[in-house]
Amino acid sequence: MKPTVTPSGAALGARVDNIDLSKPITDEEFDFIEKAFHDNLVIAISGKPYDDESLIRFGKRLGELELNVARTFRDDNLPQINVLSNLTVDGKPLGSADAGQMWHTDLCYNRISGHATVLHAHLVPTRDGQPLGDTAFRNMYQAYEALAPELRARLDQLEAVHEFEQLWSAMIARGSKRPPYTDEQRAEKPAVVHPVVLVHPWTGRKALYVNRALTKSIIGLSPSESDELLNFLFDHAEDPRFAYAHKWQVGDTLIWDNCASIHLATGGYDASTPRLMHRVQVLGDEALYRQHNKDRGGRYYV
Ligand code: SIN
Repeated sequence: MKPTVTPSGAALGARVDNIDLSKPITDEEFDFIEKAFHDNLVIAISGKPYDDESLIRFGKRLGELELNVARTFRDDNLPQINVLSNLTVDGKPLGSADAGQMWHTDLCYNRISGHATVLHAHLVPTRDGQPLGDTAFRNMYQAYEALAPELRARLDQLEAVHEFEQLWSAMIARGSKRPPYTDEQRAEKPAVVHPVVLVHPWTGRKALYVNRALTKSIIGLSPSESDELLNFLFDHAEDPRFAYAHKWQVGDTLIWDNCASIHLATGGYDASTPRLMHRVQVLGDEALYRQHNKDRGGRYYV
């Protein structure tokens, strides 16, 4: 059967059928996935759960894979894989239990914006047969386009600082059991600068590129002006007008864009309902980033 794509009907998101990611995919299948991905920003491919080698093989078709700075729940043999889970084994957590619980864009704390995240469901919590723990998304092309033209013109000129530590500290302040952030992590992920409006390296379209968890400040504004503008933009970006929520099924693979979307793990389940997800994150492309964003962003903040 030929692959098909069915848009969700929401602001973003689509389902792709008739592709089996447990096996190497053909170039035609990859081209089909890539087009559906760029058209819809989030795509779901269903199937049976498959092994980490298959997840890495597919992720590498999209680009080089990140070794996540969170470090915990990284398998020494397969360090590209991050385990997200509320399960414990012998009293020890099997994976990160609180990943993604603030609105964010993966890898915006890298000097070059990230490309994609691939999240594969091994266990999905349910209640009365209904899946729990949706992943919620917002479309940042639409968020940008919905702003007033004068504000868009102003934002087009601005750059913002992003930093991984901000998210880590905010999670600890919210009661997360994460260990304290280390100097080694700080050195690995120094603050970086990106345009507030990123020209998408693959599609050339403009997207609002700030998020509540990881964007710290806007360069050239006073702290109070920066906070005021950022808080306005965060509220705007999170508006349900731009929304899609993925309802998980065991075996789903969700692939999302990290240049023109933000996302949130919505939670809503407890230890009695196990969730087990394996993830890879795909790095951006420096040449494409620079081609579309000229001299803006893509540098460390000093
Ligand atoms: C993430 O933000 O990478 C995790 C999303 C989820 O677990 O639903």
